[in-house]
Order: sequence, then C-alpha cells, then structure tokens
Amino acid sequence: MQPIISVQNIGKTYAGGFTALKSVDLEINPGEIFALLGPNGAGKTTLISIICGIVNPTSGTVLADGHNIQREFRAARSKIGLVPQELSTDSFESVWATVNFSRGLFGKAPNPEYIEKILRQLSLWEKKDSRIMALSGGMKRRVMIAKALSHEPTILFLDEPTAGVDVELRRDMWEMVRGLRESGVTIILTTHYIEEAEEMADRIGVINHGQLVLVEEKNTLMHKLGKKQLAIQLQSPVQSLPEALSAFDLEVADEGNQLIYTFDTQREHTGIAELLRHLDQQGIEFKDLHSSESSLEEIFVNLVHQNQTEQQAG
Ligand SMILES: Nc1ncnc2c1ncn2[C@@H]1O[C@H](COP(=O)(O)OP(=O)(O)O)[C@@H](O)[C@H]1O
Ligand SMILES: [Mg+2]
Repeated sequence: MQPIISVQNIGKTYAGGFTALKSVDLEINPGEIFALLGPNGAGKTTLISIICGIVNPTSGTVLADGHNIQREFRAARSKIGLVPQELSTDSFESVWATVNFSRGLFGKAPNPEYIEKILRQLSLWEKKDSRIMALSGGMKRRVMIAKALSHEPTILFLDEPTAGVDVELRRDMWEMVRGLRESGVTIILTTHYIEEAEEMADRIGVINHGQLVLVEEKNTLMHKLGKKQLAIQLQSPVQSLPEALSAFDLEVADEGNQLIYTFDTQREHTGIAELLRHLDQQGIEFKDLHSSESSLEEIFVNLVHQNQTEQQAG
C-alpha cells in the first residue's frame, strides 16, 4: 500500500540551537488512525507542523499524497487539515461564516452542501448562526475541526485534541474522530495521554526527545512489549523470599500474602512451571493464580525510561 504521508529523515534544530527532532522517518497508511504519543516537549507539535508545512525542517523530506510539502506546498497542503493545539476562538463571526471562510482560503469554490454535511457530522448544525466566542469549549473545538475539514482534506491532523478536556467531552471527541475515519479521512493525532492512544489508534508511534522510539500496530505493541504478571495468592504469608527463588523475577506483595511474578510474553518459556515446582520444593503453598497483561502505560514508561538511560549512557 502506498503511504499517504511519507516522512524521511526529518530533523529540526530551532534558531536558538535547540534540536527538537533527530532524523525522523515515518509512513502513514491511508485510512488509519495514527497516534503520535509522547510526553510534553517530545517534539510532537514540531513534527506535525513540519508535515503540514508550517515549520521548515532543517533536514529531510515530507510527501503528502505524493506531493513534496516544501516544493509543492499548495498541492500538498490542500490534502491536509490541521487542528492546532492552541485554539484561537475569540471570533465574533458565526460558525457558518468562519467555516466557509476557511474553505475560501484554500481557493475552493463555495460548497454549502459539504459545509452542512460536516457541521451536521460534528453536531454543530444547530449552532451554525452562533458567534464562536459564545460557544462552550467543546463546541469551539468542534468548530476548529470543521474549519480544518472545510476544504475537503483527506488527511486530518489533530494536535492534542483532548488536552485539558473533561472526560465526557473526551469520549465525544473520540466518537467524532472515529466517525471521520469512517468517512474515509486518514487521522493523525498527537497525545500525551496513553489512554487516548490505546483507545483510538490503529498504530502508535512513541516519540521522546525528538526521536521516534518505536512505531507499531497498537495490538502488536501491547502484545510484543507487554510483560505479563502472574499473581500468586499464598496459603500463608511469607516474610521474605527464600534464596532458592532468587533467580525468578518475584516481588512480595500484600503483606506477604502474594507473590508477583513478572515474565516476558515473547520468551519461549514463561518459567511458570519451573517457578511452581520451586515453590513446591520450598513448601510454599498457594491457593490462587491469576495473570494480567501490562497496559500501554507501563510499556510507555519503560520505553521512555529506556530511552533516557540510553541518552545518559551515550
Ligand atoms: N519555536 C521554537 N523555538 C525553540 N524551541 C522550540 C520552539 N518550538 C518548540 N521548541 C522546543 O522544542 C521541543 C519540542 O516542542 P514541541 O514540538 O512543542 O513538543 P510537544 O508538542 O511534544 O510538547 C521543546 O523542548 C520546545 O521547547
Ligand atoms: Mg505539542
């Protein structure tokens, strides 16, 4: 499949000398929801600003639907809608006027039917004559999305769409984004909420210190990097772990009533059978076992931690 966005060797050093991106390569597939996940300052906004042609890269190339974002800016940009992180919504204009005006900026002929369709899709139709500044925060965000979609782009960027938004509104936003994807739009969102990436994305790219640390199908990521934990409920509490069990990745929990065994799902042998045999030899009896998969949260923390350790080492 031809990627709809192709990012090659993108680097960015800002005028002050700060390097925000170091040689990023990334391909986005048509029709997917891609989440760029990373902590504040990781370089998410810089990267999508470069892809959208708002910030010039220091090195590298971006193709949007085959068009070079720098050399063929207009052609590339016409395919792209961007909902920026900062909302600029102090407008006296009506929703309808604003969204139509945005379309005009792209040199597109008016298309009231299309604008009506997106306003309805975003549950903004009832508000089409309201002044933007009179709308609630959630409605303003929808207007920003409608503006970004006004020129019929096939690729939509959402920079931190739910930062500072309450839980209910976040769910609404997720629903809306899914709806947009159904209508054929490719979606790239940035987030520092793991939950959001986990909930929304088909694929996840983890970015930290300007480097794309990893890009993976969400499910594969959860599976591949996911450590599993086995909680072993003991018959009677232990004070400490016997020496004979030191080879196992074990923790004593719940005041000695539980042992937590962490193992790697990628390894051929989990070591569980061996552990249970050792427990038996040590006379440690258990009454219950259950396993749990680690969340993306833990994976993320591990990755970021690993990345930091590597940075310090080299
Ligand atoms: N215009 C700029 N000039 C200098 N440094 C910048 C500029 N914009 C962003 N940065 C720095 O680049 C890094 C990445 O910023 P940004 O891309 O906004 O990260 P994120 O969106 O992941 O929070 C940060 O350390 C930020 O301070
Ligand atoms: Mg940002």
